[in-house]
Amino acid sequence: MTSRKTGRVFWVLFIFIFFLSGCSQATKDKLLKTFIDGVPDKNGSTRVAAGAKQEKKAKEMDAKIEPLKPSLIYHQPFLEQMCDSCHDSKFSQKLILKGKELCFTCHDDFTKDKKVIHYPVSEDLCLECHEPHQSENKFLLKKTIPAICFTCHDDFTKDKKVVHYPVAEGLCLECHDPHSSDNPRMLKKTVPEICFTCHDEKEIKGQPQHEGQNMCFECHEVHSSNEEKLLK
Ligand code: HEC
Ligand code: HEC
Ligand code: HEC
Ligand code: HEC
Ligand code: HEC
Ligand code: HEC
Ligand code: HEC
Repeated sequence: MTSRKTGRVFWVLFIFIFFLSGCSQATKDKLLKTFIDGVPDKNGSTRVAAGAKQEKKAKEMDAKIEPLKPSLIYHQPFLEQMCDSCHDSKFSQKLILKGKELCFTCHDDFTKDKKVIHYPVSEDLCLECHEPHQSENKFLLKKTIPAICFTCHDDFTKDKKVVHYPVAEGLCLECHDPHSSDNPRMLKKTVPEICFTCHDEKEIKGQPQHEGQNMCFECHEVHSSNEEKLLK
């Protein structure tokens, strides 16, 4: 190196360091990382400058890109382009059958021989809850559970002091079938059996307040209440 060149390198470095002394620690670290290889990250790890710069750029770009859409779930006959299994043809929107008749050409009729049928199911309103082609939600639902239930039912979790844990978590289907059932209120099991799928029967029955008690609703609400322990 000639002395002139050494001099210039010295001045460039001097100006750079002088400039840095006026910056905050964080900015200093960032700049040092950009200009000099191998500055240890404040979090402990050592990263090379190219990586850090690239990472910063990547973050900037990430911020501009719209969030990824959750992946869609497709109805199998739609995905397989079997449009004419439901429509007159690929080019027609006219349906070959109406309401659940159409659906039950492929699906088992789950209303057959059932004692209780959910009103929208009995009224052919499958599409109140399901999309026919594709959806962002499991089971081609138009909204997630419990939101879809509360499009028609009052939201009984609102303004209540106590909400039963599975209800608060939106696990309506732990207790209800969405279509039909042989039990009142479309329950998957009768009361109190349904309670003992989660609560320990022996433990409950062993508590003094429960001695000889089977009619849970004499004393408890099932969804929500303003009293402790879901009492009425
Ligand atoms: C499982 C049955 C089924 C299949 C398979 C199906 N569709 Fe549909 N499609 C429906 C139903 C039911 C509706 C009515 C939706 C409504 O009324 O909200 C519909 C509505 C439509 C409409 C009206 C606009 C809309 O999206 O609501 C178009 C267009 C359409 N389908 C095209 C297609 C094409 C193209 C295919 C094949 C790639 C196809 N469908 C496959 C059941 C089906
Ligand atoms: C041409 C046959 C066909 C018709 C008609 C049809 N489906 Fe399907 N459907 C299928 C097949 C095949 C599957 C995938 C296999 C399965 O889950 O049984 C499916 C799956 C589904 C699923 C479950 C999706 C998932 O994510 O697990 C729902 C919900 C559904 N169909 C609703 C309907 C409704 C509502 C109708 C009427 C508008 C209908 N289907 C009409 C063939 C059909
Ligand atoms: C009140 C909303 C609602 C209505 C109305 C409704 N469904 Fe469903 N359906 C659901 C929910 C919720 C699930 C998910 C069930 C599960 O997780 O076990 C489901 C699941 C399904 C499935 C896939 C799983 C299975 O049980 O085979 C099919 C097929 C289906 N529905 C068809 C229909 C048809 C056909 C109709 C109209 C006769 C209909 N549904 C009406 C809410 C509804
Ligand atoms: C722990 C089990 C359980 C869970 C979870 C549950 N339910 Fe219920 N639900 C019941 C029982 C039991 C009844 C019958 C109550 C009665 O007869 O007094 C009922 C009754 C109903 C009724 C009819 C009577 C009324 O109160 O309007 C609707 C509607 C209902 N539930 C919707 C829902 C929805 C929506 C969810 C999810 C947010 C849900 N349930 C979660 C057990 C449950
Ligand atoms: C499209 C509107 C609609 C949607 C969506 C809907 N329901 Fe219903 N549901 C009704 C109607 C209407 C009744 C009958 C009300 C009555 O008899 O007072 C009913 C009745 C019920 C009953 C009582 C059945 C009986 O034996 O009395 C239960 C339980 C219930 N729904 C649960 C649910 C759950 C859980 C969901 C969500 C998965 C849901 N509903 C979504 C309209 C709907
Ligand atoms: C899907 C599971 C499940 C079912 C079914 C179920 N429960 Fe629960 N229940 C829970 C959980 C989880 C808790 C919270 C337990 C805790 O906090 O320690 C709870 C809490 C309770 C509480 C106490 C509430 C509080 O504030 O401490 C009562 C009372 C209750 N359940 C009654 C019932 C009755 C009555 C039935 C039947 C109609 C029933 N449960 C069905 C899961 C369930
Ligand atoms: C005669 C009224 C009565 C009946 C009927 C009754 N309970 Fe209770 N239950 C209570 C009272 C009171 C408490 C609150 C006790 C306390 O504060 O510790 C309670 C508390 C509970 C708890 C919470 C227990 C805990 O350790 O926190 C559960 C779960 C429960 N009951 C389930 C049931 C089930 C399931 C049935 C139906 C088989 C039922 N109860 C019937 C009065 C009753």
